[in-house]
Amino acid sequence: MRIKNHPIISFPERKTVKFTFEGKTLEGKEGEPIAAALQAAGIKVLKHSINHDRPRGFFCAIGNCSSCLMVVDGQPNVKVCVTPLKEGMKVEYQEGKGDINAAD
Ligand code: FES
Repeated sequence: MRIKNHPIISFPERKTVKFTFEGKTLEGKEGEPIAAALQAAGIKVLKHSINHDRPRGFFCAIGNCSSCLMVVDGQPNVKVCVTPLKEGMKVEYQEGKGDINAAD
């Protein structure tokens, strides 16, 4: 699920890296937004709304909303639409508002 050819946009070649999502090993391109790597892997739900538990995915994709808050390497409230993917990252769903003590 990744666009490879586009009539006016070129895509630089990037190194493939491994990361985990909910304990499952996935691959993405180094430096691309984590959310883009998840989307390419077929994962469209990034969180659930706090009040009604409704699924949320990519919305603004520029870091202005909170539709994509996840736990990355133990750190809650990471906006994965603007956070670059790195080798070995551990990405997880966030429960509610996240536990700021979880990263300790
Ligand atoms: S999708 Fe809006 S902040 Fe990430």
